[in-house]
Amino acid sequence: MSDPQLHLRQIVGEKAISLVHDGMALGVGTGRTVSFFIDCLGKKYQADELKDIRTVPTSEQSAAKLRSYGIPIVSLAEVPALDLAIDSADEVDPNLNLIKGLGRALLREKVVEIHAQELVIIVDESKLVKRLGENGPLPIEILPFEAHSHVRWLNSLGCRAELWLEPDGSPALTDNGNYLARAWFAGGIPDVYALNRVLNDRPGILEHGLFLDMAARVIVAGEDGIRTLERRNDR
Ligand code: A5P
Repeated sequence: MSDPQLHLRQIVGEKAISLVHDGMALGVGTGRTVSFFIDCLGKKYQADELKDIRTVPTSEQSAAKLRSYGIPIVSLAEVPALDLAIDSADEVDPNLNLIKGLGRALLREKVVEIHAQELVIIVDESKLVKRLGENGPLPIEILPFEAHSHVRWLNSLGCRAELWLEPDGSPALTDNGNYLARAWFAGGIPDVYALNRVLNDRPGILEHGLFLDMAARVIVAGEDGIRTLERRNDR
Protein backbone atom coordinates (compact mmCIF):
# COMPACT_ATOMS: atom_id res chain seq x y z
CA MET A 1 0.00 0.00 0.00
CA SER A 2 1.44 3.41 -0.94
CA ASP A 3 2.13 5.87 1.86
CA PRO A 4 1.67 9.48 0.66
CA GLN A 5 3.42 10.87 3.74
CA LEU A 6 6.44 8.58 3.48
CA HIS A 7 8.91 11.23 2.33
CA LEU A 8 7.76 13.65 5.06
CA ARG A 9 8.13 10.96 7.72
CA GLN A 10 11.64 10.35 6.48
CA ILE A 11 12.55 14.05 6.49
CA VAL A 12 11.32 14.63 10.04
CA GLY A 13 12.75 11.32 11.30
CA GLU A 14 16.16 12.37 10.06
CA LYS A 15 15.79 15.93 11.34
CA ALA A 16 15.41 14.72 14.93
CA ILE A 17 18.92 13.29 14.95
CA SER A 18 20.30 16.81 15.45
CA LEU A 19 18.86 16.71 18.99
CA VAL A 20 20.89 13.67 20.02
CA HIS A 21 24.33 14.18 21.55
CA ASP A 22 27.12 12.02 22.94
CA GLY A 23 26.44 10.51 26.35
CA MET A 24 22.65 10.83 26.18
CA ALA A 25 20.13 8.41 27.64
CA LEU A 26 17.38 8.34 25.08
CA GLY A 27 13.78 7.11 25.04
CA VAL A 28 12.94 5.74 21.61
CA GLY A 29 9.34 5.59 20.41
CA THR A 30 7.63 3.32 17.94
CA GLY A 31 6.19 3.50 14.44
CA ARG A 32 7.01 4.35 10.86
CA THR A 33 8.35 7.85 11.53
CA VAL A 34 10.53 6.73 14.42
CA SER A 35 11.83 3.93 12.27
CA PHE A 36 13.52 6.55 10.04
CA PHE A 37 14.95 8.20 13.15
CA ILE A 38 16.42 4.88 14.32
CA ASP A 39 18.01 4.30 10.93
CA CYS A 40 19.71 7.66 11.19
CA LEU A 41 20.74 7.04 14.79
CA GLY A 42 22.13 3.64 13.81
CA LYS A 43 24.20 4.99 10.96
CA LYS A 44 25.68 7.75 13.11
CA TYR A 45 26.40 5.32 15.92
CA GLN A 46 28.12 2.87 13.61
CA ALA A 47 30.15 5.68 12.05
CA ASP A 48 31.29 6.62 15.58
CA GLU A 49 29.69 10.06 15.23
CA LEU A 50 27.62 9.42 18.36
CA LYS A 51 29.29 7.98 21.43
CA ASP A 52 28.13 6.57 24.77
CA ILE A 53 24.43 6.69 24.00
CA ARG A 54 22.02 4.39 25.79
CA THR A 55 18.45 3.82 24.71
CA VAL A 56 15.19 2.68 26.29
CA PRO A 57 12.89 1.41 23.52
CA THR A 58 9.10 1.52 23.77
CA SER A 59 8.40 -1.67 21.83
CA GLU A 60 9.94 -4.96 20.77
CA GLN A 61 9.93 -3.63 17.21
CA SER A 62 12.05 -0.59 18.08
CA ALA A 63 14.28 -2.70 20.36
CA ALA A 64 14.99 -5.12 17.50
CA LYS A 65 15.87 -2.27 15.18
CA LEU A 66 18.17 -0.60 17.74
CA ARG A 67 19.82 -3.95 18.38
CA SER A 68 20.40 -4.48 14.66
CA TYR A 69 22.65 -1.40 14.75
CA GLY A 70 24.38 -2.54 17.94
CA ILE A 71 23.02 0.45 19.89
CA PRO A 72 23.05 -0.19 23.66
CA ILE A 73 19.64 -0.83 25.24
CA VAL A 74 19.09 -0.31 28.95
CA SER A 75 16.14 -0.36 31.32
CA LEU A 76 14.82 2.68 33.17
CA ALA A 77 16.33 1.20 36.33
CA GLU A 78 19.80 1.67 34.87
CA VAL A 79 19.57 5.38 34.08
CA PRO A 80 18.76 8.19 36.51
CA ALA A 81 16.58 9.91 33.90
CA LEU A 82 16.20 10.12 30.16
CA ASP A 83 17.76 13.21 28.65
CA LEU A 84 15.37 13.08 25.73
CA ALA A 85 12.64 10.93 24.24
CA ILE A 86 11.79 10.98 20.53
CA ASP A 87 8.48 9.61 19.33
CA SER A 88 5.74 10.25 16.85
CA ALA A 89 1.97 10.60 17.25
CA ASP A 90 -1.28 9.86 15.48
CA GLU A 91 -2.80 13.29 16.17
CA VAL A 92 -1.44 16.56 17.58
CA ASP A 93 -3.77 19.37 18.69
CA PRO A 94 -2.94 23.11 19.00
CA ASN A 95 -1.97 22.64 22.69
CA LEU A 96 0.46 19.88 21.67
CA ASN A 97 -1.71 17.27 23.32
CA LEU A 98 -1.53 13.97 21.49
CA ILE A 99 -3.25 10.79 20.52
CA LYS A 100 -0.72 7.99 20.31
CA GLY A 101 -0.85 4.25 20.09
CA LEU A 102 -2.12 3.22 16.68
CA GLY A 103 1.23 1.46 16.46
CA ARG A 104 0.02 -0.50 19.55
CA ALA A 105 2.83 0.66 21.84
CA LEU A 106 1.01 3.29 23.91
CA LEU A 107 1.46 1.72 27.33
CA ARG A 108 5.22 1.28 27.05
CA GLU A 109 5.47 4.68 25.38
CA LYS A 110 3.81 6.37 28.33
CA VAL A 111 5.81 4.38 30.88
CA VAL A 112 9.08 5.39 29.23
CA GLU A 113 8.25 8.94 28.17
CA ILE A 114 7.16 10.22 31.58
CA HIS A 115 10.84 9.76 32.53
CA ALA A 116 12.12 12.04 29.79
CA GLN A 117 13.36 15.51 30.62
CA GLU A 118 12.07 16.42 27.20
CA LEU A 119 9.64 14.62 24.92
CA VAL A 120 9.99 15.66 21.30
CA ILE A 121 7.35 14.50 18.85
CA ILE A 122 8.10 14.17 15.13
CA VAL A 123 5.21 14.11 12.68
CA ASP A 124 4.20 14.91 9.15
CA GLU A 125 1.65 17.67 8.77
CA SER A 126 -1.26 15.25 8.21
CA LYS A 127 -1.18 14.56 11.97
CA LEU A 128 -2.13 18.11 12.97
CA VAL A 129 -5.79 18.45 14.05
CA LYS A 130 -7.96 21.07 15.67
CA ARG A 131 -9.48 18.57 18.09
CA LEU A 132 -8.07 15.19 19.16
CA GLY A 133 -10.10 12.29 17.83
CA GLU A 134 -11.30 14.08 14.73
CA ASN A 135 -9.12 12.06 12.37
CA GLY A 136 -9.31 8.60 13.85
CA PRO A 137 -9.87 6.43 16.90
CA LEU A 138 -8.37 6.65 20.35
CA PRO A 139 -6.52 3.38 21.06
CA ILE A 140 -6.94 1.94 24.54
CA GLU A 141 -5.02 -0.97 26.08
CA ILE A 142 -7.37 -3.23 28.04
CA LEU A 143 -7.08 -6.26 30.25
CA PRO A 144 -7.94 -9.48 28.36
CA PHE A 145 -9.93 -10.68 31.38
CA GLU A 146 -13.59 -9.73 30.73
CA ALA A 147 -12.45 -7.65 27.74
CA HIS A 148 -15.96 -7.31 26.32
CA SER A 149 -17.17 -5.66 29.54
CA HIS A 150 -14.44 -3.00 29.21
CA VAL A 151 -15.49 -2.34 25.62
CA ARG A 152 -19.15 -2.15 26.64
CA TRP A 153 -18.25 0.41 29.30
CA LEU A 154 -16.22 2.45 26.77
CA ASN A 155 -19.36 2.67 24.64
CA SER A 156 -21.10 4.46 27.50
CA LEU A 157 -18.66 7.40 27.15
CA GLY A 158 -20.19 8.96 24.05
CA CYS A 159 -18.05 7.11 21.55
CA ARG A 160 -18.27 4.00 19.41
CA ALA A 161 -15.76 1.53 20.77
CA GLU A 162 -14.73 -1.86 19.42
CA LEU A 163 -12.26 -4.53 20.34
CA TRP A 164 -9.32 -4.18 17.92
CA LEU A 165 -9.23 -7.36 15.84
CA GLU A 166 -6.67 -8.81 13.47
CA PRO A 167 -7.83 -9.66 9.93
CA ASP A 168 -8.32 -13.28 11.06
CA GLY A 169 -10.72 -12.14 13.80
CA SER A 170 -8.38 -12.72 16.74
CA PRO A 171 -7.80 -9.87 19.22
CA ALA A 172 -4.85 -7.60 18.42
CA LEU A 173 -2.20 -8.08 21.11
CA THR A 174 0.28 -5.61 22.54
CA ASP A 175 3.87 -6.40 23.49
CA ASN A 176 2.50 -6.77 27.01
CA GLY A 177 0.07 -9.53 25.98
CA ASN A 178 -2.96 -7.28 26.48
CA TYR A 179 -5.85 -6.46 24.16
CA LEU A 180 -6.66 -3.12 22.55
CA ALA A 181 -9.89 -1.27 21.92
CA ARG A 182 -10.41 1.61 19.52
CA ALA A 183 -12.88 4.38 20.31
CA TRP A 184 -14.26 6.75 17.67
CA PHE A 185 -15.63 10.11 18.83
CA ALA A 186 -17.79 11.80 16.20
CA GLY A 187 -16.33 15.26 15.62
CA GLY A 188 -13.50 14.60 18.09
CA ILE A 189 -13.18 14.29 21.87
CA PRO A 190 -15.11 17.12 23.56
CA ASP A 191 -12.97 17.33 26.74
CA VAL A 192 -9.69 15.42 26.69
CA TYR A 193 -8.84 16.15 30.33
CA ALA A 194 -12.21 14.82 31.54
CA LEU A 195 -11.83 11.69 29.40
CA ASN A 196 -8.27 11.22 30.65
CA ARG A 197 -9.50 11.22 34.27
CA VAL A 198 -12.38 8.84 33.60
CA LEU A 199 -10.18 6.35 31.75
CA ASN A 200 -7.40 6.54 34.35
CA ASP A 201 -9.86 5.64 37.09
CA ARG A 202 -11.41 2.56 35.51
CA PRO A 203 -10.25 -0.95 36.46
CA GLY A 204 -9.52 -3.03 33.36
CA ILE A 205 -8.45 0.02 31.36
CA LEU A 206 -4.69 -0.39 31.49
CA GLU A 207 -3.69 2.71 29.51
CA HIS A 208 -4.98 4.92 26.74
CA GLY A 209 -3.54 6.97 23.93
CA LEU A 210 -4.18 10.46 25.32
CA PHE A 211 -0.77 12.01 26.04
CA LEU A 212 -1.65 15.32 27.67
CA ASP A 213 0.86 18.03 28.65
CA MET A 214 3.74 15.71 27.84
CA ALA A 215 5.22 16.94 24.56
CA ALA A 216 7.59 19.87 24.91
CA ARG A 217 8.08 20.31 21.19
CA VAL A 218 6.56 18.96 18.01
CA ILE A 219 8.63 18.99 14.83
CA VAL A 220 6.37 19.00 11.78
CA ALA A 221 7.40 18.17 8.24
CA GLY A 222 5.19 19.63 5.53
CA GLU A 223 5.41 20.23 1.81
CA ASP A 224 6.63 23.77 2.62
CA GLY A 225 9.43 22.66 4.93
CA ILE A 226 9.99 21.85 8.60
CA ARG A 227 8.69 23.85 11.53
CA THR A 228 8.83 23.39 15.28
CA LEU A 229 5.88 23.96 17.59
CA GLU A 230 6.71 24.70 21.23
CA ARG A 231 4.41 24.06 24.16
CA ARG A 232 3.35 27.18 25.98
CA ASN A 233 3.69 26.86 29.75
CA ASP A 234 1.02 29.40 30.65
CA ARG A 235 -1.90 27.00 30.30
C1 A5P B 1 2.90 3.85 18.37
O1 A5P B 1 2.14 3.12 19.27
C2 A5P B 1 2.35 5.20 18.15
O2 A5P B 1 2.15 5.96 19.27
C3 A5P B 1 3.08 5.96 17.08
O3 A5P B 1 3.95 6.91 17.59
C4 A5P B 1 2.06 6.60 16.24
O4 A5P B 1 1.11 5.60 15.91
C5 A5P B 1 2.63 7.21 14.98
O5 A5P B 1 3.16 6.22 14.17
P1 A5P B 1 3.57 6.43 12.67
O6 A5P B 1 4.86 7.15 12.66
O7 A5P B 1 3.70 5.03 12.16
O8 A5P B 1 2.47 7.18 12.00
